[in-house]
Amino acid sequence: MSEPTPPDTSSAPADEPYCKRHIFFCLNHRSSGDACCAALPAQQGFDRCKALVKDKGLNGKGQVRVNKSGCLDRCAGGPVAVVYPEGVWYTFVDDGDIDEIVESHLIGGQVVGRLQLPDDVGR
Ligand code: FES
Repeated sequence: MSEPTPPDTSSAPADEPYCKRHIFFCLNHRSSGDACCAALPAQQGFDRCKALVKDKGLNGKGQVRVNKSGCLDRCAGGPVAVVYPEGVWYTFVDDGDIDEIVESHLIGGQVVGRLQLPDDVGR
């Protein structure tokens, strides 16, 4: 009987995730007039976050990724964004809120409690 073949780990996930943190901004638009993040300052928040992350040199492998998203099913709290891997949901109104999310959470790992979306906010 031969020895078992060791598993091929060449395609296994690396010890470090490709992105340390990932933030998704809902930019969904509804032409029906129903609540949607695109009718609120969602695009401004995304643009501000993307620019800040780039300016601070936080983009790239092993760092922070800022992405657009379709509806995240929490429209009543819009505009919304979610940060992974922690799974922390935020709502925001202006550039100062985005600056705080970037500085405190994306860089410092500290959740911004005052901007957290309550758990019971849905569509
Ligand atoms: S439209 Fe943004 S969460 Fe639904």
